[in-house]
Amino acid sequence: MAKLWAGRTAGLTDRTADDFNSSIRFDSRMYKQDITGSIAHAKMLGAQGIISPEEAEELILGLQGILSDMEEGKLLPDPDAEDIHMFVEQILTERIGSVGMKLHTARSRNDQVALDLRMYLRDEAAGILQMLHELMETLTDLAEKNQDAIMPGYTHLQRAQPVLFSHHVLAYVQMFLRDVGRLQDTVKRMNVSPIGCCALAGTTFDTDRNYEAELLGFSGIAANSLDGVSDRDFCLEFLSALAILMMHLSRFSEEIVLWSSWEFKFIELSDSYTTGSSIMPQKKNPDMAELVRGKCGRVYGDLMALLTTMKGLPLAYNKDMQEDKEAVFDALDTVKMCLSVFTPMAGTITVLSDNMKKAAQGGFINATDLADYLVKKGLPFREAYKISGSIVARCIHDGLVLETLPLSVYHEYSPLFSEDLYDEISLETCVAKRSSEGGTSYDSVKQQLKELKNALKGDPA
Ligand code: ARG
Repeated sequence: MAKLWAGRTAGLTDRTADDFNSSIRFDSRMYKQDITGSIAHAKMLGAQGIISPEEAEELILGLQGILSDMEEGKLLPDPDAEDIHMFVEQILTERIGSVGMKLHTARSRNDQVALDLRMYLRDEAAGILQMLHELMETLTDLAEKNQDAIMPGYTHLQRAQPVLFSHHVLAYVQMFLRDVGRLQDTVKRMNVSPIGCCALAGTTFDTDRNYEAELLGFSGIAANSLDGVSDRDFCLEFLSALAILMMHLSRFSEEIVLWSSWEFKFIELSDSYTTGSSIMPQKKNPDMAELVRGKCGRVYGDLMALLTTMKGLPLAYNKDMQEDKEAVFDALDTVKMCLSVFTPMAGTITVLSDNMKKAAQGGFINATDLADYLVKKGLPFREAYKISGSIVARCIHDGLVLETLPLSVYHEYSPLFSEDLYDEISLETCVAKRSSEGGTSYDSVKQQLKELKNALKGDPA
């Protein structure tokens, strides 16, 4: 069939070229935004007297019919159509006759596709914000339920200082809160209407871009028509926000994989979120966490792909930009899929607090506290640090730990040691005394938890 744009050419392209050029297999998911945008456009054309009120009404009714038929699955996108914009216009004209041909007055597919994508991503961002909210609630519940479990905190993956498991989990909630902020910022900048920029230079018709933007819930209009049709920053910002979010999910997944190993055994995942091995009968593999970690790479790839597509494009629209959609849709689908598995999986975590504590008891995790003990008795920190280090070396040599080294041996290193040192270096004291704001003490974590719960209650997402 000849194209709607047949004119200069007969509009009869090669079949392979057609398939290559067509975007309907991925852009038809924006049908709702496309039709809603067209309804607003018809309203604006009518209100401005560019078409008659009756014509506007006919267009609107026709478009509404197409929308409900598509929603009910009575009308399916034609895989042979060039894109969703052409498809809707073609069906409209088939259904209501020549008035349908007036819809595309004072617009172009260039501003239309930019409009549709902004609306689509704006809607999808709201869904991701909701999913992040559920994730943060799940994690704060997990922290609250296991508030006092002590685990080793690590630097360089070496046991460093004892921390509360709840403190560790809440660190991730902070990351996800920033992800929420980033997405909200992105949506703010995204929510500017490009419709009316037309092909690139604006239009000779007396349009009202602000009215159309308002009908569609935008907070403003693109100020420069060339920019309006060629800007894909909103996709890149969205992809960046998703890439950072995936990085956070991936780091957490890595810890879940580590913690579920026999080497750590800090947590147990529910059977529903693990798999077995086809050969090794003893296996319980954390596949879901591994896959979330693995899928992070695709989202980074989507961001890199679009950054690269955009870097050499002259103004204004170029067909290269059709590639934007597959990148953002893939990232979007991936993130949604990951969140939909990660959140319930996190909700099933059983904390094996005895194992965590046992791990925290080895590895001289309280050596800093031993040094701090001497500092509180008047020794400069650097000297106290040296003495503690020598005591650790002695313990390793004698096969002892700080808790079992006799006081008489401590006295060989400093007369400042007395019986109370054993209390000071007990795990509970090490944790309880780190009461600086944001620290790991029971009270500080309780405070963090309270603040997070309030923040989550106030979050409109
Ligand atoms: N399918 C196209 C895209 O996704 C729509 C815009 C086409 N514009 C054009 N001048 N060919 O970018």
